[in-house]
Amino acid sequence: MIIAIDGPAAAGKGTLARRLADHFSLALLDTGLLYRATGLKVLNSGGDPADVSAAAAAARALDPEDLKNPELRADGAANAASKVAVIPEVRAALLEFQRDFAKNPPNGAKGAVIDGRDIGTVVCPGADVKLFITASAEVRAERRLKELQERGLEAIYARVLQDMKERDARDSGRDVAPLKPAEDAFFLDTSGLDAEAVFATALDHILKQNSFG
Ligand code: DC
Repeated sequence: MIIAIDGPAAAGKGTLARRLADHFSLALLDTGLLYRATGLKVLNSGGDPADVSAAAAAARALDPEDLKNPELRADGAANAASKVAVIPEVRAALLEFQRDFAKNPPNGAKGAVIDGRDIGTVVCPGADVKLFITASAEVRAERRLKELQERGLEAIYARVLQDMKERDARDSGRDVAPLKPAEDAFFLDTSGLDAEAVFATALDHILKQNSFG
């Protein structure tokens, strides 16, 4: 059983993915981490994340240990991620890892929940369930601001909103695997919903659409 979850940053994908993985006892892969780790690897070696050969080399050299770096959550890594994510060679290098995870989920799990931007369209076009989770840029910026403040980081709403819009434009406007809903995805706008309501709505859709549970 593969559940593909796509959508823009801070739409609520991560929380939903974790809850669905727990509910159905599935493995979980946050593919944003792969792009973040690639971007961070380039930054930490003094390179430019937009440099095709440096970014492709970093993607090919990615190690599971790289995915544990606490710096991955910071905005520097997020911005570098959205720059390396437009490079086809980077996407190709990371595609194999993601497909392999879907085919052979770790720890004997009977399937996986995979979240990102192109899971339902490119990585797992045959997924059993495809969810597209979104929210307005303003709501997503507010959520991100709250999250940053809770982590004790200083942030200004206008700046967070501007960063969010720039990342949206890069993610949706790129030629390779742009952010867009798969034709057969269930579209869920979480702007007015809390995490509990998002989970309940997604679960209801999954149980109606499929016979597993
Ligand atoms: O979901 P996130 O914020 O961790 O993603 C970081 C960046 O990686 C984001 O700008 C888009 C990119 N990304 C992507 O292009 N494809 C994916 N499957 C996952 C993330």
